[in-house]
Amino acid sequence: MADLLSLSMERVLVTGGAGFIGGAVVRRLLAESRATVFNLDKLGYASDLTSIERTLQALGPGAAERHQLLQVDLGDAEATAAAVRQADPDLVLHLAAESHVDRSISGPGAFIESNVTGTFNLLQAVRAHWEQLPQERQASFRFHHISTDEVFGSLGAEGRFSETTPYDPRSPYSASKAASDHLVRAWHHTYGLPVVLTNCSNNYGPWQFPEKLIPVVILKAAAGEPIPLYGDGANVRDWLYVDDHVEALLLAATRGRLGESYCVGGAGDHGSPSERTNKQVVEAICGLMDQLRPAGGPHS
Ligand SMILES: NC(=O)c1ccc[n+]([C@@H]2O[C@H](COP(=O)([O-])OP(=O)(O)OC[C@H]3O[C@@H](n4cnc5c(N)ncnc54)[C@H](O)[C@@H]3O)[C@@H](O)[C@H]2O)c1
Repeated sequence: MADLLSLSMERVLVTGGAGFIGGAVVRRLLAESRATVFNLDKLGYASDLTSIERTLQALGPGAAERHQLLQVDLGDAEATAAAVRQADPDLVLHLAAESHVDRSISGPGAFIESNVTGTFNLLQAVRAHWEQLPQERQASFRFHHISTDEVFGSLGAEGRFSETTPYDPRSPYSASKAASDHLVRAWHHTYGLPVVLTNCSNNYGPWQFPEKLIPVVILKAAAGEPIPLYGDGANVRDWLYVDDHVEALLLAATRGRLGESYCVGGAGDHGSPSERTNKQVVEAICGLMDQLRPAGGPHS
């Protein structure tokens, strides 16, 4: 990865780099490439820079200069354009989004503002930047849009999503992400902007904000409190470890074909154990908690 990025990607703009997945991307870039990382984030409720600060400390003197925080809300078109000019990027990894489905149901407006208008503002700013680049930098420039497989709807007991699955978003969150996917493709076809898209399944791992299923269940079980489960827990999701997602993102960003979208999921074959009902996820965590913290058990 380091080799791939060091070829031409010296300045990388990561949006949403203070969030869960963006933070994992930023830590990886700082540790394994020579790129300067411009971290554009509004620093909302889900943001936390602690893990990045720790990475910079571990990397030692001089590392801090390679991480530049740009505290900007993508809803602000002028501030977004100024941030893109300042970053002067070779690669943009666009992860900033409102990301919690339940919040999108109680307050959909913020999702339209960040995920749709925010992506539009970023695309316009990036297009202006890309159009004025010298030929060589323009040829290698990439805009990578990070999206979710929730744009395809719900998984049944059988089968899985693919790049040709029709869009069928079911929540304000997934509808706003679907809209942003369409904008990104339109900017490719209309203006020639060199884009790559990925649609990923549910991520889990360190530094996830504790409103998402796995950290919520762990914290509730550890505290001996009732574990919330939506409906009968029969919803099926595919699960992917966040650092494996980062690996796929960097591969797609550097090797992906322009205009293409790639599905990223937990495992390869049908019947893969990375697909679980929410109830199975909860039961697996309770089983692990029984081993690790038998005192409060059985946690189920
Ligand atoms: N978490 C998952 O399981 C998952 C799966 C597939 C795809 N995704 C996508 O990956 C991306 C990152 O998800 P996450 O789980 O890390 O989310 P997160 O909520 O942990 O982090 C999102 C970050 O984006 C920032 N942000 C939101 N709106 C912004 C705005 N208007 N301007 C600037 N910054 C803004 C937030 O402040 C936050 O730091 C999202 O685009 C999401 O749709 C997430």
